[in-house]
Amino acid sequence: MNAAIVIAVDGPAAAGKGTLARRLAAELGLPYLDTGLLYRATGRRVLDRGADPHDAAVAAEEAASMRPEDLARPDLRGPAADMAASTVAAIPAVRAALLDWQREFGRRHGAVLDGRDIGTVVFPEAPVKLFVTASPEERARRRWLELQGRGVAADLAQVAAEIHDRDAQDANRPVAPLRPAEDALLLDTTSLDADAAFAVAMALVRERLANFLDGTSTKV
Ligand code: CDP
Ligand code: CDP
Repeated sequence: MNAAIVIAVDGPAAAGKGTLARRLAAELGLPYLDTGLLYRATGRRVLDRGADPHDAAVAAEEAASMRPEDLARPDLRGPAADMAASTVAAIPAVRAALLDWQREFGRRHGAVLDGRDIGTVVFPEAPVKLFVTASPEERARRRWLELQGRGVAADLAQVAAEIHDRDAQDANRPVAPLRPAEDALLLDTTSLDADAAFAVAMALVRERLANFLDGTSTKV
């Protein structure tokens, strides 16, 4: 496998990006990066300081001084962390502070990265870009089931409203908005379970990679 192959997996909240990206990475022997963790950890560090996630100067400072252990914090998920992540993610200086790090990660040995702007901004030259979606109802159901699994009592309608608001904030920001790259392959997983989504995605990835490698001198 070409060591520098990058696969971009983007899409709205709870579409199954992470689950799919992790499996693609394992199958292809590539490193995996959940880029949402970078924004989640930044948001958390801002909240730790008692600051407002809209405060661009504080958020940029926290993004720039992030340490690897911040990405493993146990409190990066849940409504407050979700919205803080999305709020700091709309700040251009935060995105700029996190960009090189993501690019270096992918360039080192190739990688599968999941997020919102991997195919549009971080790796616009990636040979394979997937945009994973599912209906808003299905995505809310998936996130609600996850919360149930973690023993967190949640109201389905409230989870749906939070996802709706976060997607709207992510899609409407001026910098690196949530949207498919022009050459992204759309994968609607509404009626697919995780295994079926992986099978469909893997077939798409193999096809794109075969075309890509045909056009280069690199051998698989
Ligand atoms: O990363 P993202 O927020 O897009 O979603 P995820 O955390 O990977 O997946 C959310 C939940 O949906 C997980 O519990 C998955 O098991 C489940 N799921 C999935 O990932 N893919 C499907 N096609 C169906 C369900
Ligand atoms: O798992 P889920 O889809 O709910 O969220 P995530 O991927 O962990 O991302 C959390 C937030 O970080 C998103 O709502 C985006 O605002 C932001 N994000 C981003 O702006 N760009 C990325 N490449 C990844 C995440």
